[in-house]
Amino acid sequence: MKRKRLEELLAAFPSRRVGIIGDFCMDIYWHADMTRSLLSRETPHFPRPIVAEKFSGGAAANVAWNLRELGVGAVLPITIFGDDWRGRELSRVLEALGVDLRHVVHAPDRVTPAFAKPILHGFHSEQEDARLDFENATPASEELEDLVLANLAEAMPNLDALLIANQINNSLITARVRKGILRLAAKHPRVVAIADSRNEIGKFRGVILKPNEIEAARVFHPGIAPADITDAVIHDCGRRLSLRARKPVFLTVGERGTFVFDGERCDHVPGYAVEPPIDIVGAGDTFIAALGATLASGASNVEAAELACLAASVTVKKIGITGAASPEELLTRHSAPPAREC
Ligand SMILES: Nc1ncnc2c1ncn2[C@@H]1O[C@H](COP(=O)(O)OP(=O)(O)OP(=O)(O)O)[C@@H](O)[C@H]1O
Ligand SMILES: [Mg+2]
Repeated sequence: MKRKRLEELLAAFPSRRVGIIGDFCMDIYWHADMTRSLLSRETPHFPRPIVAEKFSGGAAANVAWNLRELGVGAVLPITIFGDDWRGRELSRVLEALGVDLRHVVHAPDRVTPAFAKPILHGFHSEQEDARLDFENATPASEELEDLVLANLAEAMPNLDALLIANQINNSLITARVRKGILRLAAKHPRVVAIADSRNEIGKFRGVILKPNEIEAARVFHPGIAPADITDAVIHDCGRRLSLRARKPVFLTVGERGTFVFDGERCDHVPGYAVEPPIDIVGAGDTFIAALGATLASGASNVEAAELACLAASVTVKKIGITGAASPEELLTRHSAPPAREC
């Protein structure tokens, strides 16, 4: 993509309005200074003396951060938060990013999903302890599902794109919510709708899909080992997914970039090569955020894939955090040596 086109697309972002429906989570990092730990008198355990804690949005909340960092004018979550400290903290984090929380339902009987990672620091090394997961044990009630869908119906007429984040156990995207989303997406064809789903990408129809290679392959070959996912498998699955959904499929393949399937057509958009060290956590979130903003700005599928790969190549260089990419960072990376063809 020429720099002028990139600038043109980035310049459209501030006037775009993007909704995100799905799983908003909190990532928590608890740093324990184990050099201060003394054996407990009550139990045969060494306590973890927490000396620092850090909160950041995970899953859909990371997508929201990425959209705002890209300069998208309005970012609107359509989701449920529990009435708990994590919900309050997540609201604070998102509000600080300028995210519009008007369509968030606060439900006392739901848990705000959070993943807490204790990081133990020794004299000269550190190690991650077992993660502590706050998750819902059951799906949301029908009453809550209806509230979420009513909020989406209210939001849709004013959106340019809708991103669907179906990522965790007891996801907000139940079968009923998924059907409601697909109905509303069909009713508002002007809104660019894109689904990202860890386990159920094959159940979405009539919306753009963004699976990675494992998610796409497992739709047709449940339980396939990553080593058996050849390019032939990727091509077959991408093509079938696109034909079935009747929409483009952006099948991401890590550092190799993405394959864009549109019915029988397939284009490969290579990744932007970056030097190690890298941290790929959250690359998919950056990719879908940039993809949504760019498609909603009138780009072609290939242009949107190029911009999304460019954005993700910026965040994989951000170590220890999921990371987000600003328009300035995209322009700087774009003027660096050309992308490697993998
Ligand atoms: N090592 C890398 N170097 C450059 N770009 C990368 C690298 N890894 C990933 N990317 C970029 O990020 C995009 C998304 O990566 P990937 O296919 O790993 O998505 P994902 O599996 O959905 O990620 P996540 O684990 O965040 O859900 C790729 O299409 C590519 O553009
Ligand atoms: Mg992913």
